[in-house]
Amino acid sequence: MEFGEFKKKVLATFRLDLNSYKEKQLKRRLDSYLGRLKLTNYGALYNQLAADSRSYEKFLDYLTINVSEFFRDPQRFADLQNNYLPRLAASRNRLKIWSAACSNGSEPYSIAIILEESGFSGRSKIIATDIDKRILHKAETGQYSRECLKNVSPERMKRYFSQVGKLYAVMENIKHNVTFRHHDLLSGDCEQGFDLIVCRNVTIYFTKEAQDGMYKMFNRSLSPGGILFIGGSEMIFNYRELGFEKLSTCFYQKDD
Ligand SMILES: C[S@@+](CC[C@H](N)C(=O)[O-])C[C@H]1O[C@@H](n2cnc3c(N)ncnc32)[C@H](O)[C@@H]1O
Repeated sequence: MEFGEFKKKVLATFRLDLNSYKEKQLKRRLDSYLGRLKLTNYGALYNQLAADSRSYEKFLDYLTINVSEFFRDPQRFADLQNNYLPRLAASRNRLKIWSAACSNGSEPYSIAIILEESGFSGRSKIIATDIDKRILHKAETGQYSRECLKNVSPERMKRYFSQVGKLYAVMENIKHNVTFRHHDLLSGDCEQGFDLIVCRNVTIYFTKEAQDGMYKMFNRSLSPGGILFIGGSEMIFNYRELGFEKLSTCFYQKDD
């Protein structure tokens, strides 16, 4: 089976749009997956995925790169805490936040910690989504290795984590502010009324068309004046065309 046909069949069967991922990167990853499973072609891989949902979940888990850590890019999280969250909270009774492509939960829990420290926990909720069900399960468990926590200060470690063997568990008061859900950013479906959308280090894997489609979806999803927080290596050049103003590195605001 040709690569093109594999993508078509995956879209028809699983509604996973591989055409929206950058082709060279995707193909390299797929080829190494074939090697790992000792499969000789895409047809054999498709048959395996279609035969059993667990092998599809494993495949997705491999394909999606789940690297994440707490307060990834500490300076930008400080900007969020000191500048943008207080600004949003000043003009709203409640804060509805979306951590899109949340991976193992480090990102939404970092936001929940900031909300707690800023006194906004009681009037905010975070919805955290990812396409990968296996990583969402890990996120719900909320236990992390030291490596994932290297940007967490000793004070925060003491206040928000408890040690469980070699791992560190996020405290319940932080966990209960985050709801995890399965969601594909390329599906076009989205909830409305978010005041802040955090979507970091995922658009780098998408084609330019898919990125624009996603930013348009975020624009529809944000409340007027709502803020989009993206990754340090991501940049939206055509932000005006997409309905945003640029606030500073990584932060864009929906036009009123
Ligand atoms: C590198 S991680 C980024 C995690 C976190 N946002 C951060 O910056 O640390 C990329 C995440 O995007 C998710 N992802 C990839 N394609 C996706 C899609 N179409 N819809 C939703 N999530 C997706 C992956 O499963 C992975 O967890």
